[in-house]
Order: sequence, then structure tokens, then C-alpha cells
Amino acid sequence: MNKKKLKISWPNKLITTVEEGEDWFVKAKMADFEIPTGCLIGKCGACEIDVNGETVRPCIKSIEYRNNTNLNIELTNDPFW
Ligand code: FES
Repeated sequence: MNKKKLKISWPNKLITTVEEGEDWFVKAKMADFEIPTGCLIGKCGACEIDVNGETVRPCIKSIEYRNNTNLNIELTNDPFW
């Protein structure tokens, strides 16, 4: 059975498709977009992105669907960085 694919809109304006459970970094690279990294264990926040307005740390989470809507990605604008 095929998994449902959703469209994902990256900050560089490219749009690709994703399946739930895929790796954020792999999918970003395929879209020619680099997610910043730091600790890679979920502690530093360097990799944070906003997914439909909700902050996610891609180093510790795979892609999750949110209400089965397409995903809009933005870099988190963290005032502490
Ligand atoms: S790289 Fe540090 S929280 Fe993701």
C-alpha cells in the first residue's frame, strides 16, 4: 500500500513531496536546502525549523503530518540565537 504524500514548501521556495516518517535532513538536501546543525541530539536548538508555525528539532524527530495539510517550512527566528 502506498503511503500518502504531502507537499512541502521549503524556505528556498522549492516544493517537494514527503512521506510521514522520512528524515528532515535528507528531504531538505533533496530540495537543495540546508538545515543548520549543531549537537544532533536535540539539546542546542541549532536545527530548529518551523513547520506550519510549530517549532520542530529535526535531529530528534522525523517528518510528521499535521492535520494532513501540506507543510510549510521556515527557519525558526529565535531571539536567543
Ligand atoms: S542539532 Fe542541536 S538540537 Fe538539533
